[in-house]
Amino acid sequence: MTTTPTTSASTTSASTTGISTNTAPAAAPAESRLAEAAARLDADDRLAHARDRFLLPPGVVYLDGNSLGPLPAAVPPVLTDVVTRQWGTDLIGSWNDNGWWEAPLRVGDAIGALLGAAPGQTVAGDSTSVQLYTALDAAVSLRPGRTLLVTDPGHFPTDRYVAAAVAERRGLELRRVPPAGLPDVLRAEGERVAVISYSPVDFRTGELFDMGALTRAAHDAGATAVWDLCPAAGALPVDLDALGVDFAVGCGYKFLSGGPGAPAYLYAAHRHHAELRTPLPGWTGHADPFGLSRDYTPAPGIARARIGTPPILSLLALEAALTAYDGVDLADVRAKSLSLTGFFLRCADELLAPFGFSSVTPADPDRRGSQVSLRHPHAHALTRALAERGVIADMRAPDLLRFGVHALYTTHGDLLTAARRLRDLVAEGAYDPAPRVTGPVT
Ligand SMILES: Cc1ncc(COP(=O)(O)O)c(C=O)c1O
Repeated sequence: MTTTPTTSASTTSASTTGISTNTAPAAAPAESRLAEAAARLDADDRLAHARDRFLLPPGVVYLDGNSLGPLPAAVPPVLTDVVTRQWGTDLIGSWNDNGWWEAPLRVGDAIGALLGAAPGQTVAGDSTSVQLYTALDAAVSLRPGRTLLVTDPGHFPTDRYVAAAVAERRGLELRRVPPAGLPDVLRAEGERVAVISYSPVDFRTGELFDMGALTRAAHDAGATAVWDLCPAAGALPVDLDALGVDFAVGCGYKFLSGGPGAPAYLYAAHRHHAELRTPLPGWTGHADPFGLSRDYTPAPGIARARIGTPPILSLLALEAALTAYDGVDLADVRAKSLSLTGFFLRCADELLAPFGFSSVTPADPDRRGSQVSLRHPHAHALTRALAERGVIADMRAPDLLRFGVHALYTTHGDLLTAARRLRDLVAEGAYDPAPRVTGPVT
C-alpha cells in the first residue's frame, strides 16, 4: 500500500494542492514539457500491452473506470458462449458440466488473488451492500458483549446506511469517526468496540488511508476490521491475508471491469469460518444444498456465505474480465497508477490552477489512491461539457471533478489530453454553468 513511485512524474510540486491563482494561463513551454514527459513515460510503460485487453471506444479518453470499468476484450466471446452454447444448448446440465455451480467460489478465488487472499476465503455474488450487511453482522457476532460499531462519517452512503441498520438491529451504538481519529478512539474505548468499518480510499478525494495501521489498531483493541474495497480492488495491492483483515467486501464493476451491476464479493479470513454465521442463510450456503433438509446447516468454509442462486451471466462476465490481469504484477499496477496520478496532478498544477481548479487529492504518493479529484465551482457542468469533447470523468456533489486512472489502459497522454480540453473549456467559457442534474452517482 505504500509503494514508492518509480518515475519522476509521480511526485508533484509543493503547490499542487494550492488554490486557484487566477493568473494568466500557463505558458506554452510548460505544456510542451508536459507533452514530452507524457511521451517519455508512455514509451517506458511496461504495462502498455495491457491496453489492448480493453475495447475502448476510439477517440474517447476514459477516466471513469473507478465508477464503471470499460469493456474487457475477453468478455464478449465468453458471454456469447455462455448464452448460446452453455445456456442455449447445454441447458440445465451446465450447472454441473460448465462449472456454473462452483462459479461463486471460483470467481471469488480469482478476485481474492488480486486482494492478497489465499484461495477458499472469497465468494462472489450479490451486491456490495448485501455483502457489507453480511460482513458487519457476522463481525458483530464474533464480539459478543461489545457495544460500539465505528465507521467513517465520510464513507460511501450505502456503507453509512448499512452500518446504521446493523447497529440498530444488533443493539449497538454507532460511532462516526474519521480515519485520522480512529486510533485515538480505539485507544480510549477500544474494549467496547466490536467492529470498525472503513474503506482504504476516500471515494470523493482519492485519499488513501493506512489499512494496515488501522487494522492493527482495531486488533490491539480486540475489535474486528471490515474493509470496503470498492475504490481500491484492482488498482493497488491490498494484501488482506498479510494485514490480518477480518472481513472485506467490494464490487466487481469499478477497476475490476466486470460490467454494470457486476457481482460483488465477500472475503472472510479462514480463522473466522468455523464461527461465521450469515444473516441470510440461503439454501446455496447449506452444507447439503440438494438434501432439502428442514433446517439450515452451514456449509464448511466460505461456501456458507453463498446465499441464493448465483447470477451466472454476470458472474461469468466478471470472470472473463479478470483475465485482463493475467501475468500482471500488482506492484507494477501501483507504480504506474502513481505515475499517472502524479502526472495529472502536475498537469492540474501547471495548466488548470490558473483557471480556478484546486486538487483535493494528496500530493503524497503514500496517501493517494488511483484517482485525482479537482475542486471547481462548476464541476457538474464541466464534467458534462468535457464528455462532449470526448473525455469521460465524473463528479461528486457539490464541486468535485473525479478522474480515475487505471494502470492497465490509461496513458499519460490521455491525462494531458484531459487537462488540455478542460482548460480550453474554461478558457473559452464553452459550457453552461448550471445544467440540469442527471445521471448515475456510483
Ligand atoms: C465504497 C463503495 N461502497 C459501495 C458502493 C456501492 O454499493 P453497491 O455495489 O451495493 O451498489 C460504492 C459505489 O460507488 C462505493 O464506492
